[in-house]
Amino acid sequence: MSNLVVVGTQWGDEGKGKLVDILAEFADMVVRFQGGANAGHTLIVDGEQLITHLIPSGILHPTKRCAIGPAVVVNPETLVEEIETLKQRGVKITPDVLIVSHRAHLVMPYHRALDAARESAKGSKKIGTTLRGIGPCLEDKAARMGIRMSDLLDSEVLAERLAAKLPEVNTLLSHYGQDTVKEKDVVSSLSELANRLGPFVGDVGEAVRQQMERGKNVLFEGAQGTMLDIDHGTYPFVTSSNTSAGAVCPLVGFGPHLIDGVVGVSKAYTTRVGAGPFPTELQDERGEKLREAGGEFGATTGRPRRCGWLDLAALRYAAAVNGLTSLCITKLDVLEGINPIRIGVGYRLDKKELASPPANIRELSRVEPVYEELEGFEGDLGEVRVWDDLPVQAQRYVKHLEQLLNLPVDIVSVGAGRAETIMLQNPYRREKSS
Ligand code: IMP
Repeated sequence: MSNLVVVGTQWGDEGKGKLVDILAEFADMVVRFQGGANAGHTLIVDGEQLITHLIPSGILHPTKRCAIGPAVVVNPETLVEEIETLKQRGVKITPDVLIVSHRAHLVMPYHRALDAARESAKGSKKIGTTLRGIGPCLEDKAARMGIRMSDLLDSEVLAERLAAKLPEVNTLLSHYGQDTVKEKDVVSSLSELANRLGPFVGDVGEAVRQQMERGKNVLFEGAQGTMLDIDHGTYPFVTSSNTSAGAVCPLVGFGPHLIDGVVGVSKAYTTRVGAGPFPTELQDERGEKLREAGGEFGATTGRPRRCGWLDLAALRYAAAVNGLTSLCITKLDVLEGINPIRIGVGYRLDKKELASPPANIRELSRVEPVYEELEGFEGDLGEVRVWDDLPVQAQRYVKHLEQLLNLPVDIVSVGAGRAETIMLQNPYRREKSS
């Protein structure tokens, strides 16, 4: 395999960052392909925890190139802060190592203000966004009113774009009772950021295609998860971009035949932040236990995550939507001591069995999961490094998932650190299936 895509198969927070960090060792370039600072990757640098939102997790490998692709929406302030924080921790970040697409759209302060104002106006019907301005920024992109990285570096174009956009922004902000913005303030807040980011800006699509032509390995890092995909997820409780694997081609700019494999990441259970249906949610002490044991609090917003059993109806659907070639199961250690363990294997709606999530949101909130029960396991899984040392019940759990999904599990993660990983098969060493 040369070119792999890593995607989340649930509602985000599956541990993609850790997997990308591990697989980056076998890649020449790591490319983040969608989303923005709504994502959060928890990295461990010299034993210290660090959270990044935009820079791919591959950045901890000094010899790899990292890229922020054309479809990532970039808050320039967040990006500058991340670069500075990583530099202070001794991580090398120069234009040789990090390239940011000149086509990437900018998340402006007014996008964040509008995100917050809209959510607050929705009251109890809110989506529970991360308030990072992602939706409003992508709306502007689709409306052809966005401002891109290349505009940031050209004061004439920037002035023109802002002059076209700000009257509408101010009408909206006034509608929501928010302070309006002045063009000169926006321009002055951007000019220093332009100086700082300018050297990193370039043609990511071209850089990726060159790597591919030279037969190098490219690793594509998705953000959020399939159930948050704007087209395939639990709409309207979704993010504003395509989070699934196939989207990588138009979003970065290369042909579908160049994807060799798609690794789906799933926790051994399920979590969700924000509002929206969650059929296998546990609203009892078992959910509480998963939250505590798994440290299930948002990396971006700190919000407690909703927790529940693994949902195979959703996972089977994610496997199909993404064309998964293998799976990585994370946080298996968190299930220690829970007995029995349940797995949602399908849904029932009005006595009918459903194999995958219905599109209608009211139906999805009414489905009842069909469960199977498996014996739980005990022991300190965080210490286990090879398959044979896993408790037999934990092995059975993983094998059962493989069978039910008809997909191989390549990697099992039993803790946050790089070492706390059981690699059954390196996805880069798999043969491409025809
Ligand atoms: P937005 O992407 O900030 O607009 O939020 C839309 C929905 O996606 C909300 O339910 C968020 O909680 C969820 N979301 C966005 N990014 C992430 C993520 O990285 N992890 C988990 N949920 C996310």
